[in-house]
Amino acid sequence: MAITDQATALVQAGVPVIRLAAGEPDFGTPVPIAEAGIDAIRQGYTRYTPNAGTLELREAICHKFQEENGLSYTPDQILVSNGAKQCILQAVLAVCSPGDEVIIPAPYWVSYPEMARLADATPVIVPTHIDNDFLLRPEALAAQLSEKSRLLILCSPSNPTGSVYPKELLQQIADVVKRFPRLLVLSDEIYEHIIYPPAKHTSFAALPGMWERTLTVNGFSKAFAMTGWRLGYLGGPKHFVSACGKIQSQSTSGASSISQKVGLAALALGFAGGEEVATMVKAFRERRDYLVLSFGELDGVKISEPQGAFYLFMDFSSYYGSEVEGFGVIKDSESLCRYLLDRAQVAVVPGGAFGDDNCIRISYAAALPTLQEAAEKIKKAVELLRPSVAV
Ligand SMILES: Cc1ncc(COP(=O)(O)O)c(C=O)c1O
Repeated sequence: MAITDQATALVQAGVPVIRLAAGEPDFGTPVPIAEAGIDAIRQGYTRYTPNAGTLELREAICHKFQEENGLSYTPDQILVSNGAKQCILQAVLAVCSPGDEVIIPAPYWVSYPEMARLADATPVIVPTHIDNDFLLRPEALAAQLSEKSRLLILCSPSNPTGSVYPKELLQQIADVVKRFPRLLVLSDEIYEHIIYPPAKHTSFAALPGMWERTLTVNGFSKAFAMTGWRLGYLGGPKHFVSACGKIQSQSTSGASSISQKVGLAALALGFAGGEEVATMVKAFRERRDYLVLSFGELDGVKISEPQGAFYLFMDFSSYYGSEVEGFGVIKDSESLCRYLLDRAQVAVVPGGAFGDDNCIRISYAAALPTLQEAAEKIKKAVELLRPSVAV
C-alpha cells in the first residue's frame, strides 16, 4: 500500500510511473461475456437471487468442475459469492475456531494470514525456497502439523510466484494430510486457466480421499478478466458449504444478479474459456518469456520461471546492503521497491508483503512494449547498485 500511495503521488505530480503492481489482467472483459451483462440489465434481471447463487449458474459450475477438474459436485455443494476473496474468507471463518492453526506456505497471497487472524486462528507460515520453485515440501508440511492444524491453504498456480504444483507433489501432500484427520485443505485455483504448458493444473479435491477434505475455490476475475464484476465460487462437502452460506446470508447475501448472468456466459465459452481466454494466456506467456530472458541477464538475480498466473517473483537479495547516494541503503524488499520507484519510475510490490523479503513481485499484466521499457529501466537502476562484475 505504501508503494502504491507513493506511485499515485508521483503520477499526480506528472511523473510517468509504469505500474506493475496490479493483481488484475490489463485486458477488458471479452465482449461476448460483457454483452451478457448488458442483456441481463435490459431483460430486467436486476433482483435478488438465491443466497447461494442462481441454480442455473451453480449447475453450470458443477458441469465445469466435472469436465475440467474431474470433480463431482451437486448444486447444493456450490456457493457463489462476490469474488473468490469472499469465498476464502467465509471458508476460513466457517471452519476455524479460536486457537486453530491455518497452515500457509510462503510466499503467500497477502490476505491468507489476515483472514486466519480475523477468525481468531493462528497463521502458521511454512517457508518455501526459490531453488525449489517455491513449492511446499511434504516433509516441511508434516513438521508443522499437530492436532491444532485445521486448514492448509494451497494456491496453484500461485500468486505471487506463478508456481504450479505437479500432481505427484500434490499426491505426496495429500498423503501427509491423510495422517491428520482434523485438517482440511482450501485449494485456491483462481489462476487455473492462466497456465503455460507443459505445466498442468490439478485440483486437490480430485486426488484419492481428498474430496471430503477439500474446499475448492475458483472465480472469474483472472482468467475471464472480470475483476470488477465480483464473482467467485466455492465447491465442497455440503455441511461446510452451507456453513459458508450462512455467513454470506447475514453479510452480503448473494452475488450480483447481473454478474451471475455474465458468469454463465463466461462458462459457455467452452473448455478452459475457449479462444477468448487462450488469446489472453498466449499474450501472458510471451510477456513471461520476455521478462525471464531479460532479467536473466542481470547479475545476482535469481528467477524461478513462473508456470502460471501473471507474476514474476524474483530474488534481488544479493543487492541488499548497497548504498545509493541521495537515497540511502537498500536493506530489504521495501527499500528496493522505493528505490525502483524513485530512480526507475516503476512500481512493483515488495516480497515482504508476501512473506519473502528476498524478492519483489512484478505483475506482467501490461502490454509488451510497456514491460520492455520497465525492464530496461529497472535493470539500469539495479546495475548502479553494484560495480558490474568483470567477465
Ligand atoms: C490468489 C488469489 N486468490 C483470490 C483472489 C481473489 O479474487 P476475486 O475476489 O477477485 O475473485 C486473488 C486476487 O487477487 C488472488 O490473487
